[in-house]
Amino acid sequence: MPIITLGIESSCDETACAVVEDGRIVRSSIIASQADFHSQYGGVVPELASRMHVEAIVPCIREAMKQAQVDYSDIDAVCVTKGPGLVGALLVGVSAAKALCEVKGIPLVGVNHMAGHIAANYLTDITWEPPFLCLVVSGGHSEILLVKDYCDMEYICATRDDAAGEAFDKIARVIGLGYPGGPKLDAASKSGDPNAYSFPAPKISDSLDFSFSGIKTAALNTINQVRLKGEDVNVNDFAASYQDAICSILCDRLWQAVKQTKMKKICLAGGVSANSCLRKKINDLASKRNLQVCLPKMTYCTDNAAMIASAGYFDYMAGVRDTLDMNAYPSLEM
Ligand code: KG4
Ligand code: ZN
Repeated sequence: MPIITLGIESSCDETACAVVEDGRIVRSSIIASQADFHSQYGGVVPELASRMHVEAIVPCIREAMKQAQVDYSDIDAVCVTKGPGLVGALLVGVSAAKALCEVKGIPLVGVNHMAGHIAANYLTDITWEPPFLCLVVSGGHSEILLVKDYCDMEYICATRDDAAGEAFDKIARVIGLGYPGGPKLDAASKSGDPNAYSFPAPKISDSLDFSFSGIKTAALNTINQVRLKGEDVNVNDFAASYQDAICSILCDRLWQAVKQTKMKKICLAGGVSANSCLRKKINDLASKRNLQVCLPKMTYCTDNAAMIASAGYFDYMAGVRDTLDMNAYPSLEM
C-alpha cells in the first residue's frame, strides 16, 4: 500500500494543499494565490494574508482531496509547514492541520518550509536522491546546503545580508516593475542586454557566503545617477544586467561548493529557482563540469503544498510525529 500524505502550506501569500503518494507522486496540488491582491500594496500585508488563508484553507483541503480521490481514512499523515514564515499566516495552516489530525486520528508532521522547497526535486525527478548539493534561493533565503540524507542537511554557506529574491524584488520595484518583482524582472530581461550595465562582484574572503547588499546599493546608485541627468534607465537592459550579475554570483558559489565538497550532484530550490537566467547558468555549469543536475519543475519552484507533503513523507518515514503542542515558528532554522 502506498503511503499518502496531505500537505498544507500557508507560510506567506499562497494557501496550498496537496495529496502526494510515497513522497514522489503528486495526486493533486491546489494553490490559491493572493499575489494579485497584495500587488496593490507593493508587497505582502501580513494581517490580510492571514485573513485570506482563513477563508481559503478549508475549500483548498477539500478540493485537494477531491481531485486526488482520497478520503480521510486514506491519509497516513497530515504534513504542515510550521516555519519559517509569517506567524499569523503559518498559524492558519498549523491550526487547520491540528484540528484535522485530532478529529480524524491522523498523525501530524510539522515541516520546515525550506526542506519542502528542497523536496520539490523529489517530485521533479522520481529517481533523485541524496547526497547532493542544493542552492536554496527564495524571498528570505540564499544558502547552499549539503543534503546528506532526506532528513540530514548541513549548511555550506548562507547570506550575510539580503536574500537573492529580496534583491530582485527591491530593484524590480525601484525600476517600476511592481510586485512580485522576481518574475517581472525575469520577463523584462528577456528583451534586454545583460551587458548594458555593470555591477561589482562582492568579495568575501575565505568564505562562500553570499552578500547582496553591495550589488543592490550599486544598482540603486546607478538608477539615481541616470535619473539625476534627467534620463531614465532602460528597464529591460537593467533587468537583464542585474539578473545576470546576481545569477553569476549564485552559480559561481555553487561551483566553489562543488569543488570544496567534491559532490557531483547539484540542484536548485526556492522561488528564485524559477528564474530563467539562473536555470540556464546552472544547466551550463552541469554540462561543462559533468555534474548530475535537477531543476525543479516550474510549478514546484514557488510555494506549493506538494513539496510539503513530500518533505513530510520523508520525516514521517523517519518516525517524526508532532503533537497538539506544536506551534508556528517564524524563524525556524533547518
Ligand atoms: O519560495 P518563494 O515562493 O517564497 C518564499 O519562501 O520566500 O519565493 C519567492 C521569491 C520572491 O522573491 C520572488 O520574487 C522570487 O522568489 N521569484 C523569482 C522568480 N519567481 C519567483 N525571482 C526571479 N525570477 C523568477 N522567475
Ligand atoms: Zn517558499
